[in-house]
Amino acid sequence: MLVAHDLSFGFRHHQILSGIDFALAPGEVVGLVAPNGTGKSTLLRNLTGLLKPQNGSVTLDGADAWRNRRAFLRQLFFLEDSQGLFPSLTAREHLRFVADAWGSQVTVDAVLTALHMTAYADKRVGQMSLGMRQHVLLGMYMVADAKYLLFDEPLNGLDPTSIHLFTQIFSKLKERGKGIIMSSHQLGNVTAMADRVFFLKDTRLQVYEAAGIDLDAKYDELYGVQEADW
Ligand SMILES: Nc1ncnc2c1ncn2[C@@H]1O[C@H](COP(=O)(O)OP(=O)(O)O)[C@@H](O)[C@H]1O
Ligand SMILES: [Mg+2]
Repeated sequence: MLVAHDLSFGFRHHQILSGIDFALAPGEVVGLVAPNGTGKSTLLRNLTGLLKPQNGSVTLDGADAWRNRRAFLRQLFFLEDSQGLFPSLTAREHLRFVADAWGSQVTVDAVLTALHMTAYADKRVGQMSLGMRQHVLLGMYMVADAKYLLFDEPLNGLDPTSIHLFTQIFSKLKERGKGIIMSSHQLGNVTAMADRVFFLKDTRLQVYEAAGIDLDAKYDELYGVQEADW
């Protein structure tokens, strides 16, 4: 289980997260939903130890995010966006690097084929379009084969064909027992496959079973609709 207990975080005088409590089981998909600027990325960074919480703890199958950092990181994969890729390395080199670092049995070629990336497998990332880089990023998650996968807005900017492909891959990762958190600023694609939805509102998480409620109505109730007074 990935367990967050009483997590809080703020930037100077701006509180972003308070009293965050949840447990994520292997094979479970959670959609983390809130409008832009609410704190989704900040929460994911706190969960993975890229930011240090003011208070609270994060553990992964008992390994503390800070005290047992190596054991914690071995079971998790998180790369916030494709800005973190190396421009001078190719797609294949990125996947090989991850396979080595995570000691994975997943073959790089199988992932390149599954993501329809063979035509640009040996292209440098610096010469790729945003959509191609998103594929490289997803490929890295697939190759890492870690037990817990945290995605930050993985479907942003993708065309409908790619969204369909990515969605199929997420379902397969779930079938393979991965515990997944996937953020989005909109309902829909990420919540379609989610077991639970975490809405972030006023620094706190509101947790719902996805099958149990009308998510669109809940989103409108929580965040409302903004009118353009112009
Ligand atoms: N490094 C930072 N320093 C100060 N404030 C930040 C920093 N990063 C993000 N913020 C602020 O924290 C809030 C949440 O940001 P973020 O987690 O990126 O939101 P989301 O991912 O939901 O769009 C925003 O108000 C943002 O301006
Ligand atoms: Mg964000």
